[in-house]
Amino acid sequence: MAESHVEPTIEVVDDPASLARAAADAIARVVHAEGPVTIVPATGETPVDTYAELADRHARGAFDASAVSVVQLDEYVGIEREDRRTLFGWMDRTVLTPLGIDARRVARLPTDGDLVAACAAFDAALAERGGIDLAILGLGANGHLGFNEPPSDAASVTRPVQLTPATIAANARYWGSENEVPTRAVTLGLSTLLEAGEILLLVSGEAKHEIVRRALEGPVGEDVPASFVREARGSVTVLVDRAAWDGQ
Ligand code: PGA
Repeated sequence: MAESHVEPTIEVVDDPASLARAAADAIARVVHAEGPVTIVPATGETPVDTYAELADRHARGAFDASAVSVVQLDEYVGIEREDRRTLFGWMDRTVLTPLGIDARRVARLPTDGDLVAACAAFDAALAERGGIDLAILGLGANGHLGFNEPPSDAASVTRPVQLTPATIAANARYWGSENEVPTRAVTLGLSTLLEAGEILLLVSGEAKHEIVRRALEGPVGEDVPASFVREARGSVTVLVDRAAWDGQ
């Protein structure tokens, strides 16, 4: 990968509501194009309003996800697959059920057995079926994409990872305390994500100001995994609200 990259399109919007509408428009453009579409929908707080906007449109008959297949971005290791605190459970509640996407159209990440081998098989199966058309991603305050924690390089594959203290602290609110947060996870690798036809990176709130600027304006490198979107194969749109962009 070298000079030929197209710069990400950075679109600064007024507020989280505008971000959700713009993101929903961008997703609908891809999903409503002809033919089957494979999407990766991040969990996390940032895209929740976007998915709610799509769910509203779906309920009104204005968003049709019948051509959509879903690939899971990341998942905790070490909790029961049926546990509602899995990221699959979160995705089910915010994306699959509201948009009428059958669980059979979801490629769920492996969470037990030989994870290195199972993740390699997952990547191979995904490549075989044509990869990702659209990755909808959030930005970690530590610069991660999915659970590609710093340092993660652009060649990283889908794999088991150890969560960093920053991510465990950020997720403690969902688990009651830091001690409850799983410390291990699996994530799609950066190399898989960076091959996506399109990446839509959603960034909201003042707390993301420093990291969004580092990711888009600082050096590209493994200390800020999200900086590698500037070397992605496909088109990259960063939708960022004014609080995140301006830091106030
Ligand atoms: P957030 O998470 O959307 O909840 O801020 C983003 C991330 O950590 O990837």
